[in-house]
Amino acid sequence: MSRFLRPGLSGLTPYTPGEQPRDIEFVKLNTNESPFPPSAYAQRLARQAAGDLNLYCDPECTALKQAASEVLGVGKDRILFSNGSDEVIAWAFQAFCDADTPAVLTEITYGFYSSCAALYNVPVVTVPLRDDFTVDIRPLAGARGTVFLANPNAQTGIAVGTELIRNLVSSDPDRLVIVDEAYVGFGAPSALCLTEEYPNLLIIRTLSKSHSMAGARLGIAIGDPGLISDLEKIRCSFNPYNINRMTQAAGIGALLDTEYCRANCATVASNREYTAKELRRMGFRVLPSSANFLLASPGKADAEYLYRSLRSEGVLVRHFDSPRLRDWIRVTIGTREQMDTFLTKTGKILGEKS
Ligand SMILES: Cc1ncc(COP(=O)(O)O)c(C=O)c1O
Repeated sequence: MSRFLRPGLSGLTPYTPGEQPRDIEFVKLNTNESPFPPSAYAQRLARQAAGDLNLYCDPECTALKQAASEVLGVGKDRILFSNGSDEVIAWAFQAFCDADTPAVLTEITYGFYSSCAALYNVPVVTVPLRDDFTVDIRPLAGARGTVFLANPNAQTGIAVGTELIRNLVSSDPDRLVIVDEAYVGFGAPSALCLTEEYPNLLIIRTLSKSHSMAGARLGIAIGDPGLISDLEKIRCSFNPYNINRMTQAAGIGALLDTEYCRANCATVASNREYTAKELRRMGFRVLPSSANFLLASPGKADAEYLYRSLRSEGVLVRHFDSPRLRDWIRVTIGTREQMDTFLTKTGKILGEKS
């Protein structure tokens, strides 16, 4: 730390992303990426755009917005793009939270929310999950502040139904509810259909997971034109050219190639159910996931030991050292072959231990 850093930032603990190894070839099941490459159409459009990189990109993302509007069936004035959904999450903290409007978060959720709260000096109200890790909407509805709800929830994969989101949003029209649908493509219900009806609902999505575009960095916010223009103000004050040319082009291809996306998501969902079944057969407790990952507890075996042993066997999964997650590992769902490697190594490690 230098002596020039603002004192208020000296205690900041930044978000810790999952490991991105550069050296050894890992079976990489730790950051919820897609195991499949981006659509061939997206790649072709990105290559074409590379020839124009001497020119600034379109700050309004006009063509990309048109494609998203067609695919999502929402008006262009209800859509905003960000450099990964993390960027729009950060803008939402700046736009919609302050000392009097805390961020309302579930006890277990995407860790970046609390990093943003710390960065922007936003107080956090934490609402517990039930014992079975499901989200109880009632305490969320009872809390004052801006709700950030990942659905399906990050780390658990458990989704809540659209009617519960409707109850939450309609319980107080003066409270903003932000539903982060990063993992919605893998089988969870979406609350997108409620955005026309409820101006206090903002949906955030990403092309990182279901559209195989984590490296391109493209997030989407969908909601009332008023909310979108609030976020636009922050975007244009910070980085008006936030989506580079190649990502805008690739985004069009990825969004329009709906069949490729649908087929990949279906494969991931089927590999998820296969992996869950095999893990349960090995004695694991596995939460019912609607996302592209599983949260699984090896019962009596030590989850951190399993994580470290898998790592030394060349398989990367995620372990969180927090009270309710200590006994669990989070496993991203990859190809069937990757899942078989993970399952075989897991069986071997646990077999050797017992
Ligand atoms: C719930 C949730 N929201 C948002 C993100 C951020 O995605 P990105 O910034 O890649 O769009 C993640 C990443 O893992 C996530 O788990």
